[in-house]
Amino acid sequence: MIYLDNAATMFPRPDCVKDAVLHALDMAGNPGRSAHEAAFAADEMMEQTRQSLCRLFHAEEDYACVFAQNATDALNMAIPGSLNEGDHAVTTMMEHNSVLRPLYALQKTRNVELTIVPPDEMGIIRPAQIEKALQKNTKLVIVTHVSNVTGAIMPVQEIINVCRRHGIPCLIDASQAAGHMAVDLQSLQADLVAMPGHKGLCGPQGTGVLFVKNGTDLSPTRFGGTGILTFSQEMPQEYPSHLEAGTQNVHGIAGLGAGVRMLQEKGVENIAAHEKELTEHLLSELTNFPDVVIYSPQDAAYRSGVVSFNIASIDPSHIANALAQEHICVRAGFHCAPLAHKCMNTTHCGAVRVSFSMFNTHDEVDSFLSTLRRIIR
Ligand SMILES: Cc1ncc(COP(=O)(O)O)c(C=O)c1O
Repeated sequence: MIYLDNAATMFPRPDCVKDAVLHALDMAGNPGRSAHEAAFAADEMMEQTRQSLCRLFHAEEDYACVFAQNATDALNMAIPGSLNEGDHAVTTMMEHNSVLRPLYALQKTRNVELTIVPPDEMGIIRPAQIEKALQKNTKLVIVTHVSNVTGAIMPVQEIINVCRRHGIPCLIDASQAAGHMAVDLQSLQADLVAMPGHKGLCGPQGTGVLFVKNGTDLSPTRFGGTGILTFSQEMPQEYPSHLEAGTQNVHGIAGLGAGVRMLQEKGVENIAAHEKELTEHLLSELTNFPDVVIYSPQDAAYRSGVVSFNIASIDPSHIANALAQEHICVRAGFHCAPLAHKCMNTTHCGAVRVSFSMFNTHDEVDSFLSTLRRIIR
């Protein structure tokens, strides 16, 4: 099988991740609850994964690392946790439904005002557009780091700088960036950063992370046992307990820790360079296909390891299904980003998406291209 659907979830998982999950299944009790060796083993697995994540993202000094079930879950802690009745939020047309739907729900339940900023003609969100959208009551700006449809890398540092100048918290959806490119939170200084554990970070499904910058005021969106302050009617004030209610996915988190440590050994910069090479290889050939429309940014500096395209007059799902029959896995359709498809004029059909991981090879790109050529013929 040639797996080119890593933007949905990474496949295959490295052996070290599988081993860590199995080890946790054998060893881990409930973390933070009891004082025996199985509970301590779970505590240690959680703590090691937090430390590994903080090291990878240079978040040791300024951030709390909160575990979530996936990126959607992390975004659902960050967005409703930041916005109250009558607040205004700014986001973009390039967002995933995991950003848009919590915002639409808050429009209804808390009268949250929403401004949705369009990208430029290259599919890039410009900081000036974000700045223009800010209002007196803006309480949150939410921007994706990398579009899961076009692969466009957004200028998040400049956008965060705009937010900081205006004193408005900024939430970055790093779902397609984490593990695929260097993300340095010490220099970015975003207030909130949400990411899945199961994509670029190599972890099992059921894992995600929310980094919360020290001093960020976030209301819990779920309530329950934390193993501490049992007699308090409120969630503990300190992170991560403030947001982590109930038994955590220790087995998955142990696997995530192993994945993150493997990334650190390989070097995220090397992974980014490899995935970019695969993208350039793919694009150099795909551009010559008859009637092809490619949605990646024209400027290579903004391109990541996610590429989407259409071949005129062929339904993208026919292409993906034909590739699947040849054991080549891509995704077709709307990629959960409805407004991005509006920008691309593809609301009637969607697009075929190819997305790389560190494990893909140039031979796989060649096989994909030759199979695609044959299918089109
Ligand atoms: C940009 C972006 N944000 C959020 C998500 C949601 O991630 P998860 O499936 O981990 O909830 C995805 C998933 O593809 C995504 O690409």
